[in-house]
Amino acid sequence: MQKTQIGIIGLAVMGRSLALNMADHGFKVGGYNRSREVTDAVVKEYPHENFVPFYDLEELVKSQERPRKLLIMVKAGKPVDMVIEQLIPLLEEGDMILDGGNSFFEDTRRRETYLKEKGIYYFGTGVSGGEKGARFGPSIMPGGDKEAYKHIAPVLEAISAKAQGEPCCAYMGTDGAGHYVKMVHNGIEYADMQLIAEAYLLLKYAGGFTNKELADVFEAWNEGELKSYLIGITAGILREKDDFEAGELLDYIVDSAGQKGTGRWTSLESLKQGVNVSMITAACNARIMSNRVEERRAAKELFEHPQQKLAADKAAFEEKVRKGLYTAKIAAYAQGFDLLSHAASEYGWDLNYGKIASIFRAGCIIQAEFLDDITKAFGKNKALKNLMLDSFFRDGVNQGQESLRCILGLGIQNGIPVPAMSQAIAYIDAFRGMPVGANLIQAQRDCFGAHTYERTDREGSFHHDWRF
Ligand code: 6PG
Repeated sequence: MQKTQIGIIGLAVMGRSLALNMADHGFKVGGYNRSREVTDAVVKEYPHENFVPFYDLEELVKSQERPRKLLIMVKAGKPVDMVIEQLIPLLEEGDMILDGGNSFFEDTRRRETYLKEKGIYYFGTGVSGGEKGARFGPSIMPGGDKEAYKHIAPVLEAISAKAQGEPCCAYMGTDGAGHYVKMVHNGIEYADMQLIAEAYLLLKYAGGFTNKELADVFEAWNEGELKSYLIGITAGILREKDDFEAGELLDYIVDSAGQKGTGRWTSLESLKQGVNVSMITAACNARIMSNRVEERRAAKELFEHPQQKLAADKAAFEEKVRKGLYTAKIAAYAQGFDLLSHAASEYGWDLNYGKIASIFRAGCIIQAEFLDDITKAFGKNKALKNLMLDSFFRDGVNQGQESLRCILGLGIQNGIPVPAMSQAIAYIDAFRGMPVGANLIQAQRDCFGAHTYERTDREGSFHHDWRF
């Protein structure tokens, strides 16, 4: 039998889709799943000449050409460690294990070190794009040994999405770099989704737009600078009719969002790194608040609601929401990339921000026209400290901030929760050098704890004997 070129362990939706994508690209793929029914279902429902089923892990490993390449596609956490332990006695020096799940980057770092001692290469590989992406072209973020990457590059780059002909897959850095970048991708995804949800709320409750009008608006926005996968699906969602009742499905979906944890990881990690990703945190908190369904229902009866003040001019308001959303989006990406740059120095990664933005241009959930502009910004200045300092994005903020302030004003007057957009303007205002009140904080700290303060007019550290 012809040797298999890659083995996939875990044939649920993502594993199966990646396996079939690889098979389509001419790679001989061996597939194994813990319960054989899943493997049988793949063979039955998606027969492919390049896909070989295995019912025994050892048989799969034996079938592989060297160096062996085994892609783990199981639930993040303990199951990944369990598969690794099963693989270790079967592998030889120079073989490679890839983890394509949403694993926590610290786990990836630990596993990489552990396997390196055994002569096995480990690649934490971020994969974005959901089922469709995995099947027909995801964005892929591999991290691990730079030299060994050449063995997996051909298959990963072949199956990845292509943006202007270039693969949306690139080597990210050593150990946990790939999973870290994927984590931040997801954090940005949370912020992006929350901003779109807020734009929807503003247009609906302060603009008086119907679902049909909203769908038209998002469709039109998808032709301009906001063009992105998420804006596109939002237009489609707003039009989708319900299967049970009259009207659109969206109006029948419970106002409570789930989350699996990658956004939360990004937020926790940012506090550790001392980086402000307030918009990602706001998006996590918005989901948390949304989950208090019963409390919110009860509280609705207890509080007064502001009088509705509809925007005077619908078309002008729509344009302001568009510009405000774009401006807030710039701030969200500035925060995400700022976190990446701090992580790079903390963990010793040589992250290429322009490249990262370029592999997000297609295949992944946050894919957008906008990412081309981010690639250009880092192309002009590799050491760009904050995305908003690039002239293109600075102009964007300067041109859009008035709109953002205006829609936030109307939103807040109408009692519409707009936490991510509010954080965007707070971030922009603090960033552009407005006083943030820290002089008073320092005075308080010195007053109650003699923590000292610095002065604007002379060097040194001072303590004052507060006289009251
Ligand atoms: C992707 C997504 C994906 C993630 C879902 C759901 O890049 O394909 O980020 O990895 O699992 O978006 O995430 P939540 O359940 O946390 O919203």
